[in-house]
Amino acid sequence: MTQGAEWWRSAVIYQIYPRSFADGDGDGMGDLQGIRERLPELAKLGIDAVWCSPFFRSPQKDAGYDVSDYRDIDPRFGTLKDFDDLVAEGKKLGIRVIVDLVPNHSSDQHPWFQEALKSPKGSPARERYMFRDGKGRNGELPPNNWPSVFGGAAWTRITEPDGTPGQWYLHIFDSSQPDFNWDNEEVREEFKDILRFWLDRGAGGFRIDVAHGLVKEKGLPDVEEASTTMSGEEETNKPKDRTKPHPFWGQEGVHEIIREWRKVVDEYDDRIMAAEAWVLPLSRMAKWVRQDEYHQSFNFGYLEAQWKADQLKEVVSESLVEFGNVGAPSTWVLSNHDVIRHATRFAYDQVPKQGDGIGPDYPQPDVAKGLRRARAATSFMLGLPGGAYIYQGEELGLPEHTTLEGKYRQDPTYFRTKGERVGRDGCRVPIPWEAAAPAFGFSKTGESWLPQPEQYGEYARDKQDGVAGSTLELYKSLLKLRKDHNLGLGSFDWVAEYCSEQSLGYQNNDILVIANFAGKPIELPAGEVLVTSQVGLDGVLEHDQVVWIKL
Ligand code: GLC
Repeated sequence: MTQGAEWWRSAVIYQIYPRSFADGDGDGMGDLQGIRERLPELAKLGIDAVWCSPFFRSPQKDAGYDVSDYRDIDPRFGTLKDFDDLVAEGKKLGIRVIVDLVPNHSSDQHPWFQEALKSPKGSPARERYMFRDGKGRNGELPPNNWPSVFGGAAWTRITEPDGTPGQWYLHIFDSSQPDFNWDNEEVREEFKDILRFWLDRGAGGFRIDVAHGLVKEKGLPDVEEASTTMSGEEETNKPKDRTKPHPFWGQEGVHEIIREWRKVVDEYDDRIMAAEAWVLPLSRMAKWVRQDEYHQSFNFGYLEAQWKADQLKEVVSESLVEFGNVGAPSTWVLSNHDVIRHATRFAYDQVPKQGDGIGPDYPQPDVAKGLRRARAATSFMLGLPGGAYIYQGEELGLPEHTTLEGKYRQDPTYFRTKGERVGRDGCRVPIPWEAAAPAFGFSKTGESWLPQPEQYGEYARDKQDGVAGSTLELYKSLLKLRKDHNLGLGSFDWVAEYCSEQSLGYQNNDILVIANFAGKPIELPAGEVLVTSQVGLDGVLEHDQVVWIKL
């Protein structure tokens, strides 16, 4: 664990997707007990904190991102005591536990939404959400043209308590996830209270879900382009030069809310908030991490860059300048529970749009190519100064499940688009621990809420632990060296000699990192080779390979 009040500036944070990490009670769904039991493995890996995707009480229509009680643990995942035990175990091992806060919307089963449905139009209960009259002669058309990120319209019409067709409510995601009205004082107070609830219980901080979506433009005007991506852009790497801001992504009003939260978090010693804000360009995203706002923001520009020298050079330079301008550390991330795992993504030149996923009908990846590039990409990322995020399983080189059949799919995207977009289940499959155990050690009974592909056995942790050259050992080496050489708080300079169309080189403190993307081998300079993304160097760096050299 990195120490000190500003530990987050250089932290490596490991994302746990609780359903799929480890199942302690054998019902096929991961849980808090499972996380606690496996936490020593993460301590061995060398991370500073875990961020757990939501484990709150929830009907699980969007895998827990639909919360019906923000102050309790869903029985599928355990109890509040299990949470306390997890935090205590984390303290022993030097691992902070970060909680995933979902403030943009609740579940439609949340008591507030249920109350709103039973209350009349214009009532205080309806004011906590975004209810509007429909358009058309009888209000039969949605109030505007906003699309749901998961497909279809972002509005659903309700039946009023007297049985007549009534108002519509907004849901930027699934219809089971009604958006809160963030102009409402009660909503604001409630969330400050929820922050305190988890901070008092010892949470290390919060990952804030859909942090850029809370505030909607007054009058709810139509969107120009009905994109279903989380940024509102068709291509995140090429944000459009908009004449006016998007009506529900990245509205300026969000900053006032963030500042209120920051005050609450600052009442405690060293807790943090990290924003899921798909806002581009990075100069705009940097505004989310000004000194009195979030501590960190995920760098989705970096995540969406391809494994190409020019794209990475641009996004790294831009990130360090833009985040640096506001005194914030940059963060780096390659995978999470919403995108195609990078060990699979990098096997393709072009991948489906964020959130769409890969199914059996899509051209299948070259697994070896993807893994080689993924190991190189991680070796490139973990040498950069700032904070880094790792998604469970990537330390095993785990690929996406790309042949999951429709009958197993659970992502609302799959259902809302009638299977046209297969969705995100492929990156959410339970991870393998022991090659020879039932469900590869995920659960003692062999149960698993999504089927694991047979090949996952080859990636099991016990087959890699202590095995020279394994992806797990590569991650351990990179994380240890990162700490030993203080790279998280280090300096950064491109090394011109190695920067070309096919390669990049940078120096951080006393470490030179060189990446060869394609083409001919690169002669290695003098210096001690500390680690390389592929074993065997023979004096040259081959394509899709990264090396760290001590100068
Ligand atoms: C975020 C989460 C995603 C979820 C969505 C709605 O983007 O990362 O998994 O579906 O918010 O809460």
